[in-house]
Order: sequence, then structure tokens, then C-alpha cells
Amino acid sequence: MGKVRKGIIPAAGLGTRFLPATKAIPKEMLPIIDKPMIQYVVEEAVDSGLKDILFVTSKGKSAIENHFDFDFMLYHILKARGKLELLETVEQITQMVSITAIRQKEPLGLGHAVLLSEPFVNCEPFSIFLSDDIIDHEIPVMAQLLKVFEKTPGNILAVQEIEPDSVSRYGIVKGIPLNKNKGRLLQIKELVEKPSPSEAPSNLAIMGRYILMPEIFESLRKTPPGAMGELQLTDGIKGLIKQGYPVYAYLFRGKRYDTGDKLGYLMATIDLALKRKDLGKSFRDFLLDLKLEGNLH
Ligand code: G1P
Repeated sequence: MGKVRKGIIPAAGLGTRFLPATKAIPKEMLPIIDKPMIQYVVEEAVDSGLKDILFVTSKGKSAIENHFDFDFMLYHILKARGKLELLETVEQITQMVSITAIRQKEPLGLGHAVLLSEPFVNCEPFSIFLSDDIIDHEIPVMAQLLKVFEKTPGNILAVQEIEPDSVSRYGIVKGIPLNKNKGRLLQIKELVEKPSPSEAPSNLAIMGRYILMPEIFESLRKTPPGAMGELQLTDGIKGLIKQGYPVYAYLFRGKRYDTGDKLGYLMATIDLALKRKDLGKSFRDFLLDLKLEGNLH
């Protein structure tokens, strides 16, 4: 079985939850401290050894591609001013990845966005990163999944336990634990996209990182629109299970932030700022000084 070399980052959503900030700026470009959200995800891909990235974007999202492109003018200005450290920060990521972008012309769902990546993927196992999920761990989550894939090739989804009352926001899986990877690997038997709490088969939720085999494309082509009238990736993966392909769930290590949600975005900003060498200490002092009781409305 081939190696995973490519990463798909669907980024075509409208970002309505962050309006008006996202009226003229893609939500993926909103910064967490001083880096756009999507850069955290691209860095995870690079740190996991993946250098070939495809963005599936939509109209008005060209800032994403520009961000990862070499900026000739900025390069020369920073160099002339002797700002070498900043130059390194700005250009390092662009040198580490090869970026391709395609457009999803209509908002037909995550499954449809993935289907559009077929010519780029070209019959290899590949990875998917949902950029609303920022996951912090010393071993990047995709590197964790790739390690599992080495010994257990197949479709692997990153999952985490959630509160039972939030199942309707996620793809939910149920599986049989395999005696592997310290009990963190399950073989999925059931999965449902955004079930109600009474329909949910468990409280294990898919958290925006996938390794998939190219058979997913055929399965997606045969999948009818699902939740919210969209072609759901979860339903395509369900089709793989029906056809007898193994699909695994891996209980990854790491703290996940839902940066597509305002509260999750704030939490990510605070936690990641506290971890920064240049800001952490002063920011912590500031937070400790806050008289929080007085700030609630
Ligand atoms: C998507 C997937 C869902 C997954 C979630 C993780 O949903 O469809 O299965 O659990 O991402 O963030 P979305 O958040 O795009 O509605």
C-alpha cells in the first residue's frame, strides 16, 4: 500500500458564524494571535511530513493561496531593512509546502469538496484536515494517524469523546476496540452525521482529521445528499464500511479547539498565547490581574 503524501484542506465555507469579520476576509484567514487559523493546520501537515497540499476554496478566498505564496516585494523590503527574523517567520512556511487550489463552485457539502480533490489525489491514500479544528499536541495529530497507518493501513478517522449533549454537531462513530495502539484504535461499525442525542450510537466524535483510501471517491459518487441536504463525507465513509473496507477510529492525544465557533476561537487564542515564549508570561500576569466578577454583563 502506498504512502500518504498529500493533504486536502477544504476551505470553501462562507464563515457566516464570524460575520461581519468574514464579510471580506475568508474565515480561515482570521488570526489566532499573529498567524491565520489555516496556517496552524498547514504547519500540522508539514510537521507530519506532508508537503503537497490542496485547498478546496470558493469565490473570495484567494487570500488563502496568496498567504502561502512567495511575496517577492515583502521579501526584498524585509531583507533591505535587516528584519531577517521576521523574514524567516514569513517565508519559512511557503518554502516547506507545495500549494494547489481548486474551487468548489457551489456549497454542496464536505463530501462534494473531497470529491473535487480526486484528480489531485490520483489513486493514493491521502489525508484531510478540517481547518475549523485546531489540535494542539507535541506530536501533531496527523503524525499520530500516520503512525497508526504504517502498521494498520486503511481509512483512519481521528476521534475524541465529547459531552453527549453535543453529538448533533459532529459525525459520531461506534466501533469495536482492537487490541492495538494501547486500546486507542477501534474498528468502526456504525457512523452517523450529526445525530440527535437519542439517535447517537456513542459519544465518540470525528474531529476533522482523516486518512482515506482512494476508494472513497467511488463511494462518494454513489452517496445521496444527507444531513442539511449536502453530500456528507461521513455518509461516503459509511458506504466504504458497507462495501467491506476497513475504517478505523483513533482516539488521538491532544487538545482540540473548535475555532469555527466564537467561544472555541477565544479559548484557542488564550491557550496558545499562554504557551508562547514571547507573550506567555506577560499575558498570564495580565489574566491573573483581571477582576473577573466585574466583567460579566
Ligand atoms: C464536519 C464533519 C463532522 C465532523 C466535524 C468536526 O462537520 O462533517 O463529521 O465531526 O466536521 O469538526 P462541520 O463542523 O463542518 O459541520
